[in-house]
Amino acid sequence: MEQSRRTLLLGALATTACLGCSTQSRAGEDAPGSDERPQKGDVLVFSEGDQEGKPITVADLPAGGPPVHAWPKDPKTSVVRSGSRLNEILIIRLDPADLDEKTRERAVDGILAYSAICTHAGCPVTAWVKSDVGDKDVFKCMCHNSEYDPRAGAQVVFGPAPRRLAALPLAIADGSLSVAGSFIGKVGGVQPG
Ligand code: FES
Repeated sequence: MEQSRRTLLLGALATTACLGCSTQSRAGEDAPGSDERPQKGDVLVFSEGDQEGKPITVADLPAGGPPVHAWPKDPKTSVVRSGSRLNEILIIRLDPADLDEKTRERAVDGILAYSAICTHAGCPVTAWVKSDVGDKDVFKCMCHNSEYDPRAGAQVVFGPAPRRLAALPLAIADGSLSVAGSFIGKVGGVQPG
């Protein structure tokens, strides 16, 4: 009872908060290219924490999660593409044996990248928690509790999200992660972001 009341409250708060969500969430980051979607060859850098701005290496990714939050960065201009919140990415390292066939084909040494933007109303997907409907950890959007399984192409396993998270092809060179292609699938929520 208490749990569902709390969940409702969290959802209501988050809905209100997300009415103000914009694709341009970080003021002052207007360098040319900063709001362009990830491009092939971009390096991936931490988007938060002590290592913000530092390139992400395989060694930075804990096996089995949680995910690391990243921005793409243009290696030629050094512009971090943080001018659009739709560019935030979740990178996770999983056991290849746990991935479904299609997801395994796209993974690089079990490492996968997905859009961090929930496909429901466009909140950021912030949690890595045990699923409400199984015993595995999943990506979770705390706005209205949508859950996505990164082992199965980030398909929706719980909640109101209408479709899976967009996937981002990856490459690894000298232990560092980079973007190998454009997002697969639509980025962002069904309600205006
Ligand atoms: S925005 Fe509603 S569940 Fe994520």
